[in-house]
Amino acid sequence: MFTQKLSAVLLLAGSALAYNGRVQEVLRRQPKVGNVTHSFDVARCPGYALHALSETHNGLTAKLNLAGAACNAFGTDVANLTIEVTYETTSRLHVHIYDTAKSQFTIPESVVSRPAAAKGNTAKKSDLVFNYDASPFAFWITRRSAPHAAPLFDTRISSLPPTPIAPVMAGDNSTALDGFPLVFENQYLQLASALPLGANIYGLGEVVASSGIRRDVGTNGGVGTIQNDWARDIADPIDENIYGVHPIYMEHRFNGSTNTSQSHGVFLLNPAGADILLLTPPSSNVSLIEYRLIGGTLDFYFLAGPTPQSVMRQYAQVVGTPTWQPVWAFGFQLCRWGYTSLAEVKGVVAKMRSANIPLEVMWNDIDLYHAFRDFTADPVSFAPEEMRQWIAELKANHQHYVPIVDAAIPKELNSTDFYAPYSKGTELDVFIKNPDGTEYVGQVWPGYTVFPDWFAPNTLGWWTDALRNWSALGVEFSGIWLDMNEASSFCDGSCGSGIDISNTSTPFILPGEPGNFVAGYPEGYNATISGPSGNITVNGTLTYGATAQAALAARGIGAGNQSDVDLNAPPYAIHNANGRLSLHTLATNATHTGGYAELDVHSLWGLMEAEATHKALQAVLPNTRPFIISRSAFASAGKWAGHWLGDNFSKWEYMYFSIQGVLQHQLFQIPFVGADTCGFNDNSDEELCGRWMQLAAFTPFYRNHNIKGAISQEPYVWDSVAAASRTAIAVRYALLPYWYSLFANASIDGTPPVRALFWEFPNEPELFSVDRQFMIGSDILVTPVLTPNVSSVDGIFPGRGKTIWRDWYTGAALNTTAGANTTLPAPLGHIPVHVRGGAALLLHSAPAYTIEETREGPFALLVSPAADGSAFGTSYLDDGVSNPPGPSATVTVHASKGRMKIESKGKFRVAQKLEVVTVLGVAKKPAKVEVGGKKVKGFTFTDAEEKLVISGLSVDLNKGTTISWK
Ligand SMILES: *[C@@H]1O[C@H](CO)[C@@H](O)[C@H](O)[C@H]1NC(C)=O
Ligand SMILES: *[C@@H]1O[C@H](CO)[C@@H](O)[C@H](O)[C@H]1NC(C)=O
Ligand SMILES: *[C@@H]1O[C@H](CO)[C@@H](O)[C@H](O)[C@H]1NC(C)=O
Ligand SMILES: *[C@@H]1O[C@H](CO)[C@@H](O)[C@H](O)[C@H]1NC(C)=O
Repeated sequence: MFTQKLSAVLLLAGSALAYNGRVQEVLRRQPKVGNVTHSFDVARCPGYALHALSETHNGLTAKLNLAGAACNAFGTDVANLTIEVTYETTSRLHVHIYDTAKSQFTIPESVVSRPAAAKGNTAKKSDLVFNYDASPFAFWITRRSAPHAAPLFDTRISSLPPTPIAPVMAGDNSTALDGFPLVFENQYLQLASALPLGANIYGLGEVVASSGIRRDVGTNGGVGTIQNDWARDIADPIDENIYGVHPIYMEHRFNGSTNTSQSHGVFLLNPAGADILLLTPPSSNVSLIEYRLIGGTLDFYFLAGPTPQSVMRQYAQVVGTPTWQPVWAFGFQLCRWGYTSLAEVKGVVAKMRSANIPLEVMWNDIDLYHAFRDFTADPVSFAPEEMRQWIAELKANHQHYVPIVDAAIPKELNSTDFYAPYSKGTELDVFIKNPDGTEYVGQVWPGYTVFPDWFAPNTLGWWTDALRNWSALGVEFSGIWLDMNEASSFCDGSCGSGIDISNTSTPFILPGEPGNFVAGYPEGYNATISGPSGNITVNGTLTYGATAQAALAARGIGAGNQSDVDLNAPPYAIHNANGRLSLHTLATNATHTGGYAELDVHSLWGLMEAEATHKALQAVLPNTRPFIISRSAFASAGKWAGHWLGDNFSKWEYMYFSIQGVLQHQLFQIPFVGADTCGFNDNSDEELCGRWMQLAAFTPFYRNHNIKGAISQEPYVWDSVAAASRTAIAVRYALLPYWYSLFANASIDGTPPVRALFWEFPNEPELFSVDRQFMIGSDILVTPVLTPNVSSVDGIFPGRGKTIWRDWYTGAALNTTAGANTTLPAPLGHIPVHVRGGAALLLHSAPAYTIEETREGPFALLVSPAADGSAFGTSYLDDGVSNPPGPSATVTVHASKGRMKIESKGKFRVAQKLEVVTVLGVAKKPAKVEVGGKKVKGFTFTDAEEKLVISGLSVDLNKGTTISWK
């Protein structure tokens, strides 16, 4: 959902924060007020000294006392800290530094449960080793297997030269890293670690990074990255904080002399507003990561890896594995803001059908609502009985319906305005409050609104009822779309407290209406030459190549006010690109049950809403897997929901960014993710939309979504896009058993379904920055076209010439350039897809209109042998919907030269037969093919592609068989 730029929002509000009083009963002290003079010279902070160390069952604990006069840089130094070091498993080390008095905020276990530690003593067996200096206190983490190698994490950086980084705030001369100590204040925590010079860092987010997936650590005195952690509703700006917060990074270290590599991960479990900087001091032989947090504790989990994918699995052990998706979630989904009536929506569904473009899930944006209110449907344009009947028809056709749910709940306007979610919620005391205990009132689409407080005991029950009661209006959803949950608010502070709330108009002009026409088009679009199709027929010069914004955006408003600190503005001003933390969201003094201040729990709102919605759907739609797509997220949100990449733009650049977004969220353990296909903001065009429909068919969440007022972009709008979509969706549905198995693995142990190339080929440095291509599992490599006006695309093929890559469409082996780009033909309507040598993929042989119909059809098997003739694959099969998952079957294929064995294990009965087996890389036509020991005649062989196709089979996958050819 689109929301306006701040300038427009400010037009309305005019009201300052209505509540400036001290937050009551907060678990963490508020900033100093008034004209307190802060010393910003963090370099003079005294650091800590370690005392009273004692060994514990599998680690140690000690006291850290302030080692000199307090510096009170951005708050008050905490004199007494405790450090706990726990070797939780052989690959996970937990280091928690907290205030001994425990008055800093830490996330309650009910919100993010902590991982269980191994029972035995793992300290001696761990590959990670905790080392420390007592005074000044510093610690570093090494590998037991390589004690003399550079530490993985190292806070002993006092000997570095001063680092003249750009001032991060007025009055801060920021040579902070000179003699850099541990700083632990009530409002400011700072810790830095040395990284190898120019380290390969991935993760930290959510972000649209101009650097690509490999984050910029800067060079010689430069700050490469300031990752800001503060959940924010904003249309996907580059290099700024956006919707979600994930303080986890993975570092990948390559040793050129041994040609080996190791990855490790570092997760900071702290939702506080933060800047995480990646930088390189001048003339330095190291780069640095520096954490600057405005609250909480230093709660680090170090993950040993040593491969990229094992780091991700270890992270899943900390935050939980992703939720199981219903199998229909892999179908194509369609939405737009601006479907103004059910008649229009029905028309879209019908046009998809008549264009024969598979449609699995139809969505509605806020057009569905009556007066923009959650859990309503417009009584005229989405009338209850018609909705009910229509959704029943969808279900009969194996299709689904997903409506939007916004975060904010409108207030009743007067005594005759009855809106149960509000009145019930008030009665049950489920809304966020002002510091004085009155209700906090912000402003969103429906006018003045309150916001659910997920910490309140009655909220889950109330939310469940609200979702269940929607059915009375015919809204029989199969899943839920959670939007605006950063949480977004259009006014400043509790703007609706104590005022006349009858004005429900949106404080800015909606897109498509006079004064706000949607005028943007993709780069290179030229309407005068080719009309509404844009650049598709243009053969002129490319205008593509608009540069990304500079890596570091200017400081936002509010940064210079440090000598006159607002109660609601912590002394250290993080790089929230909105400036003041309370802008465009809940004010930081908004108060939750238990006394939690919004300041501390802000970035948890979306996570907590996703958890509540997941639990509500388990009650409303029992025994089926909750399907939820959420915009805001914090670490662990993948346990409850998937994610879409927010309000992107109909630009080639954003199609490219969608790849890094999908890859980031694999690391973040929210693997079910995708971008608004064809772009949300601005108008799309034929060429971009065609390329994007093809690319997104190879990402997990596949939804075309458009903004109100833009030209239509459903895949049937342009014939070439319709054709491209049919082709790509057919490949996607053929691959469904593969996708489904990858997601089963993710839900079982956190293995990422979509992969950057180096996650599979970690010893090929030329892959470490590749994010214009990606892999699905270990076996499929996608090389999309990401620029207009081209008919070929360059891609690198991992394995340096030793790995065979075969064309998905023809089966022919590709002639690759080792370690460098290979140019592939890619005319419109064609997306290059390659299958790795060594793969055996179970497929659906008859991709159909829906996932259900596809699953009812028979199976095919594609075998793409490695150079030695071997191939291997496993497929996980179950009923696709039951929750928790019921019986399953695992079909395993082992192939070697001239033969293969298909086996099955597990209790799930696979009804469909295996009818076609394709073997690639068969050098010459076999004289004899046997299946289950019996000679078969139904096979064909094509020389050019070295392809053997055995058809007309009826193999029972529950029993398995053997196949041979020679
Ligand atoms: C500091 O604040 C106090 C109390 O608000 C005020 O009386 C005083 O003038 C201020 N001092 C300065 C230097 O602004
Ligand atoms: C707390 O820290 C202060 C300052 O370092 C020290 O003097 C004091 O002994 C510490 N208290 C405890 C209980 O360790
Ligand atoms: C920062 O530098 C400026 C200019 O060199 C100086 O005037 C100011 O006093 C310095 N501020 C601090 C806090 O050291
Ligand atoms: C109360 O609010 C409703 C809108 O929900 C409006 O239709 C009605 O006129 C209002 N009544 C009064 C007395 O203002």
